[in-house]
Amino acid sequence: MKLSKQVTADMTIETLLDAEQARFLKSHPRSAAAWRKGEESFLFGGPSHWMRRWAGGFPAYVDEAHGARIRDIDGHDYVDFCLGDTGAMCGHTPAAVLRAAQRQLARGTTMMLPTEDSLWIGEELTRRFGLPFWTLTTSATDANRGAIRIARMITGRPKVLVFSGCYHGGVEEAHVEIRDGRIGLRNMIHPNGVNHAEVSKVVEFNDLAALELALAEGDVACVLTEPIMTNFGMIPPDDGFHAAVRELTRRTGTILVIDETHTLSSGPGGYTALHGLKPDILVAGKAIAGGIPAAVFGLSQEVAERVWKIVPRVNPRTRQSAHLGIGGTLAGNALTVATMRAVLEEVLTPANYGHMLGLATRLAEDARAIISAHHLPWHVTQVGARAEIMFMPRPPKSGADVIAGRRANLETLLHAFYMNEGILVTPFHTMFLMCPATEAVEVARHADVFARFVALLQQAKVV
Ligand SMILES: Cc1ncc(COP(=O)(O)O)c(C=O)c1O
Repeated sequence: MKLSKQVTADMTIETLLDAEQARFLKSHPRSAAAWRKGEESFLFGGPSHWMRRWAGGFPAYVDEAHGARIRDIDGHDYVDFCLGDTGAMCGHTPAAVLRAAQRQLARGTTMMLPTEDSLWIGEELTRRFGLPFWTLTTSATDANRGAIRIARMITGRPKVLVFSGCYHGGVEEAHVEIRDGRIGLRNMIHPNGVNHAEVSKVVEFNDLAALELALAEGDVACVLTEPIMTNFGMIPPDDGFHAAVRELTRRTGTILVIDETHTLSSGPGGYTALHGLKPDILVAGKAIAGGIPAAVFGLSQEVAERVWKIVPRVNPRTRQSAHLGIGGTLAGNALTVATMRAVLEEVLTPANYGHMLGLATRLAEDARAIISAHHLPWHVTQVGARAEIMFMPRPPKSGADVIAGRRANLETLLHAFYMNEGILVTPFHTMFLMCPATEAVEVARHADVFARFVALLQQAKVV
């Protein structure tokens, strides 16, 4: 029986991946041993389950990280384009963050009292993102949860609408997707006893007709969306999509929450400021305090006033429950506030964005040149300091396009190859992020490694 071209290619990819993982194992004995030891204590082998997702077969254990570089405990140096999946978009421990953290660590980290740095931050967040009233949380997940809670509080509606293929953190309502035309839990796995139909709605990104239909029922508290979807490969919005989403949400009294946690790569005010979007609530996290766990969400004047009608702004003189279900004990702590100030004042500056955007453009152009020289059906997308290679001919329009067109095994092979060649990208898809410390020579190194990957595939007749 003659095997189809695709099946033969897939078998070859498996063989190549076996070889790359064997290479990684051989050259990383200390990390391999550490991983085996970690499996004795940690539920998923490492302190976080995400850490098991590296394509080498196990993660490299870090000795130290500086700027855009990581050294592992086996002595290998990596150019880090993963940057903690954006948590380290400022670079690993930039000097300004280190100074601020050291200073604040010596003066108290968490007091349930504000420090004066927070005043500077409040004004700066408004200047950057345009929204007047802010709250700090310890993670973007938590900021999204806070935004959802507020949307439900002021609308009295139960449901959160998200786009299929989204990721907004460990937010229960967002773990839904459309697969094979069916709505269900993300990846259709992990049943968890929650009836998602009661709390969520999901439609395809760029599908305005479906969005209109879903909002018309009047049971959606908020639409929660990234301005460009970044967590399922990059899915750009169609022309006019955001204007239509804004119009539909306004018309139906639905709160619009824009999650800029990843798209903060666009520039100092995120995609929102760059493209003049007008969210009711904006969320940003990960890099916002330079790697110290923190996030923010901002409310429009109108949303804030609606909140104050339910929860008075001033503290009542009589004792009553202080539980709002928003944020946590460590939210807005002094250490976070100090490092966030350092980030906004000295690290995520227009000048540094200029540098990062230039390098992301260079990386994207180099990758495109290699792709087109070899007539490969792949493409590269860029959002500011972030670029993504996808093994599909054109940018997807929706999660459905990604499900239909993704070549997951080729991605895994590329990632394993990158690791062996000293390059780290986010382990979930092929996304590259620049930080202020990234250098042109590191971007050039990627072009060289990517070209050699293509040569490997051609030699093996996979492409
Ligand atoms: C767009 C977006 N929002 C929120 C989150 C959650 O961030 P965290 O894991 O820091 O809570 C992520 C994480 O990848 C994200 O990509």
